[in-house]
Amino acid sequence: MRVGFLTSGGDCQALNATMRGVAKGLYGLYDDVEIFGFLDGYKGLIYDEYRKMPKSDFSGILTVGGTILGTSRTPFKDIRKPDENGLDKVESMKNTYRRHRLDCLVALGGNGSLKTANLLSEEGLNVIGCPKTIDNDLWGTEMTFGFYSAVQVASEAIDCIHTTAASHGRVFIVEVMGHKVGLLTLYAGMASGADIILLPEIPYSVDAVCRKIAERNKGGSRFSIIAVAEGAISKDEAKLGKKELKKKMADDAAKYRSVAYKLAEQIESKTGAEVRVTVPGHTQRGGAPVPYDRVFATRIGVEAAKLIKKGKFGNMVALVNNEIVPVPLAEIAGKLKVVDPKSSIVAEARMVGISFGDEG
Ligand code: F6P
Repeated sequence: MRVGFLTSGGDCQALNATMRGVAKGLYGLYDDVEIFGFLDGYKGLIYDEYRKMPKSDFSGILTVGGTILGTSRTPFKDIRKPDENGLDKVESMKNTYRRHRLDCLVALGGNGSLKTANLLSEEGLNVIGCPKTIDNDLWGTEMTFGFYSAVQVASEAIDCIHTTAASHGRVFIVEVMGHKVGLLTLYAGMASGADIILLPEIPYSVDAVCRKIAERNKGGSRFSIIAVAEGAISKDEAKLGKKELKKKMADDAAKYRSVAYKLAEQIESKTGAEVRVTVPGHTQRGGAPVPYDRVFATRIGVEAAKLIKKGKFGNMVALVNNEIVPVPLAEIAGKLKVVDPKSSIVAEARMVGISFGDEG
């Protein structure tokens, strides 16, 4: 059994744990397993850069963050465009697969990477996808590995901010990763008692944010904590057409380091409050996976190995109704799972007094 592994897109915790799960699963199911690790994501497959991975590679990596294969972003929108030397990337990936007489390719990736996995599957390769991302924004699965580890890091950042915010009586804005989807911000914000949570899916008004801060002050709380997703947008921005919004975002990017800094300036000028910004950034993708992710990644990996044994290719291994099941890559590729503003979790958050900046 000859299997290729690759990790693609932004890294996250539990990539190694997942590869370990697939490898150990395969070693249990087959007498003879050869694993080809493609380096830096699809780049390794395109340019045939790989290393053979002996069994020993999969020992001692359950708790190790990052990826032992390296990763890179290979945007799906460019995958059909030839490279700077005119190389057809898709043909090249197919040739690499065939040259090594692979029986299957296991791709660990998020939204864009699984679109490429689906394309390769449609091109006739045997592909299995594993759901990776701290954003938990993949359609077709309730969970992605990396999510709870990132929730842990972001929550700890907000926890630490709590004490200093209370001491100084300041407004603090903590910017959490997630350009398109706010699940990470929602969970980290709820987990660490943020007062205001701003998400791309629920456009905010600065006035509503300021009202919540004033309400808290009136109630005797000297400080307020805002968890804002990287991609949070205001109600006015949400009214813009796609092109206009893109231009507005580009103008803002030239003026402010990120959304948190823009918001800080707006809140300061409206309330006179002292506002501070904290951006945990890529720490959210770093460090060891939390125990949930170690277990989840192991299960995903072993189930991927079982799918290979059964010849059920063209699937992503997913969590549905708390069971690990295959879902066709063709069904999930290109679709995002987002926060539903009407979901019960948002209603529950509102019931404990969290503002989403959209009230009034
Ligand atoms: O997709 C994962 C993610 O961490 C997003 O939450 C974030 O917006 C983005 O990647 C950051 O990308 P990069 O590592 O390329 O800066």
